[in-house]
Amino acid sequence: MVFEQIATGGCQSYLVGCAETCAAALIDPEMSQIDRYVALAARDGLRIRYLIDTHTHADHFSATRELARQLSVPVVMHRASPAPFVDMRLGDGEMVVLGRLRLQVIHTPGHTVDSMCLLVEERLFTGDTLLIDATGRTDLPSGDPEALYDSLFHRILRLDPALKVCPAHEYKGRSHSTIAQELASNPRLQKHDRAAFVEMMRSLSLTMPTHITEALRTNMSGGKTVAQLLAEAAATVPFMSLAELKARVEAAEDDLIVLDVRERDAYEGGHIPGARLLPRGQLELRVNKDLPDPTRRILACCELGYISTLAASTLREIGFLHAVALDGGMKAWREVGYPLKVGRDA
Ligand SMILES: [Fe+2]
Repeated sequence: MVFEQIATGGCQSYLVGCAETCAAALIDPEMSQIDRYVALAARDGLRIRYLIDTHTHADHFSATRELARQLSVPVVMHRASPAPFVDMRLGDGEMVVLGRLRLQVIHTPGHTVDSMCLLVEERLFTGDTLLIDATGRTDLPSGDPEALYDSLFHRILRLDPALKVCPAHEYKGRSHSTIAQELASNPRLQKHDRAAFVEMMRSLSLTMPTHITEALRTNMSGGKTVAQLLAEAAATVPFMSLAELKARVEAAEDDLIVLDVRERDAYEGGHIPGARLLPRGQLELRVNKDLPDPTRRILACCELGYISTLAASTLREIGFLHAVALDGGMKAWREVGYPLKVGRDA
């Protein structure tokens, strides 16, 4: 088995491949590492055939949907997953065939209702059901401490004690543990009594994961994260630096239209000399009247540099092929002390 473990902060993803056939599966990929996964698979001579989420993640952005689009391979999850974009839904006891490898599904609800562990040769990919010296929490949507008790004590912990535990989270840099080690020293597994275990899980007072709203929304729907939306827009537009723009403004270059896409009060509070006002919310409504010549070079600017990227992308999409965005925004422009005009421009 070809095996790669990729950490993103505390999130762990795994690339598992069949050495004979070069078929591979990617388990719990994270959005920011898409290029790394594809590059690792290529370096190892593997072709990714399946994209697997062990459960609906609430704390990070799954890359399965985006990688499925890029690679034209199926997204695989347990059949209880609420995500509509899952191509292959699995049930307990079923297997994914990966060349000579068999990825065996063990349904382990508790952390979430759609949690599953995957048994592949000597490794058990435990998702957030069993972590090193911990377990997944049960206080997030569809969590259930009673179900986690059954999944752990009646399923996972009865497997071969020598199995390597490969969790979806590990924050202390340990690559894996074993079932035997977890039985011996995992503090959450020392209460073998169901009621005591459930009481312990219910009394954990854990802070909510950052980005939980966006993670659940995008992971359950397949929708884009805001960062993804911005990255896609940024990939379609050229940028101009603050210093380059300042030089061009001072040279009074008249082939460049500086388009301030903030609201009027922000614009009148201080804008780049000569900039025109066209708030992002009115761009499509006013573009034909305000920008009649699509061959002009238009530079969009906003407060932080994000909305202007979207605006420049929109302008390019509708035929302004020379639209660019400012690399940075008015906040950065002010901070470096570049010239500002207050009030309405001429
Ligand atoms: Fe999780």
